[in-house]
Amino acid sequence: MGKPKVVLGVSGGIAAYKACELLRRLTESGHDVRVVPTKSSLNFVGEATWAALSGNPASTEVWETVHEVPHVRIGQGADLVVVAPATADMLARAAHGLADDLLTNTLLTARCPVVFAPAMHTEMWEHPATQENVATLRRRGALVIEPAVGRLTGKDTGKGRLPDPEEIFEVCRQVLRRGVAEPDLAGRHVVISAGGTREPLDPVRFLGNRSSGKQGYALARTAVARGARVTLVAANTALADPAGVDVVRVGTAVQLREAVLKAAGDADAVVMAAAVADFRPAEYAGGKIKKKDGEDPAPVALVRNPDVLAEVSADRAREGQVVVGFAAETDDVLDNGRAKLRRKGCDLLVVNEVGETRTFGSEENEAIILASDGSEIPVPYGPKEALAEVIWDQVTQRFTSRRA
Ligand code: CTP
Repeated sequence: MGKPKVVLGVSGGIAAYKACELLRRLTESGHDVRVVPTKSSLNFVGEATWAALSGNPASTEVWETVHEVPHVRIGQGADLVVVAPATADMLARAAHGLADDLLTNTLLTARCPVVFAPAMHTEMWEHPATQENVATLRRRGALVIEPAVGRLTGKDTGKGRLPDPEEIFEVCRQVLRRGVAEPDLAGRHVVISAGGTREPLDPVRFLGNRSSGKQGYALARTAVARGARVTLVAANTALADPAGVDVVRVGTAVQLREAVLKAAGDADAVVMAAAVADFRPAEYAGGKIKKKDGEDPAPVALVRNPDVLAEVSADRAREGQVVVGFAAETDDVLDNGRAKLRRKGCDLLVVNEVGETRTFGSEENEAIILASDGSEIPVPYGPKEALAEVIWDQVTQRFTSRRA
């Protein structure tokens, strides 16, 4: 099998410079990349840069090397087209099917997955014209990644930043892995909690756990690649924000509950991958707790935290909402899992065995998914992304069966 063929479309925004890094990641990971810049993007990054970094010619117009019929061939031969950055003008031209340069011709001839990573000022992104163009492109099966929030060109901050190139690369990787499969979570809002809560004892100490957040982030990344709008409630993770994801950062179980319940209001699915502390210190010392010579340490009194999963399951914010929980067990894994599924009232419970060296912080996972309808889906040891895909398969099946 040859290298996967990727077309990197670049349109005329300042974020074009970040596409150099995306290109480098794509080529270094074994993709054959053809860069198709728009004419205006050459004001930001020149043709020579694209040609040198990709090892392929980079033309903007259909009138060069006409005998090779590039306006048809490039799109036809691609396994993935990714447009980064996609300006408001680019989205408009793509949505309306214009074919006035090589990139728009390529978009019309491509039959592979197409990813747009928009970048523009907040006003332009929020404008109804842009939003309607985005909706049109999504309806046709394109993946339009939500821009990131942060510093824009000049002094502005807001929504409209191009996500980090490595995170756009992750989306490309996921989409290539899925091939021509439809983005089956398009139009869905999913809420995922990830990481581990920290319950403060004093300003410098907390009760915490060893959750890295990687499984929750894998769920977020795979959901984006399947077209979902994703809210990720992240508790104390040290991981980069995935592209296209609305990340809400929290610390404690109480903060996590508030963020999850707020986001769950219009969610089609809620996946509680976070390790939520069951207890928190009954009292918070405003100043650092000091040791005293000759005195035993005072015991730490604990109180119960709210059970977010049980609450979300019991009070579904909307009909048909699918709720997924996780269970980390060290002993009697299946029996404990089944009992927990009933106790929590969720639709699916992903049970995995944990210990000192298993699962926490690792890239891989092994699990069994228990469903409230009695089914059991074993997921063999493998990347956390593979488990995430099986979870979304199970969630989407439940959407379909409920609609029918
Ligand atoms: N969970 C939650 N709120 C809590 C505790 C846990 O929402 N206060 C969620 C977790 O996100 C996870 C699931 O419940 O999806 C299972 O958590 P776990 O700690 O294994 O379950 P517990 O009910 O705490 O059971 P036990 O401590 O007895 O194992």
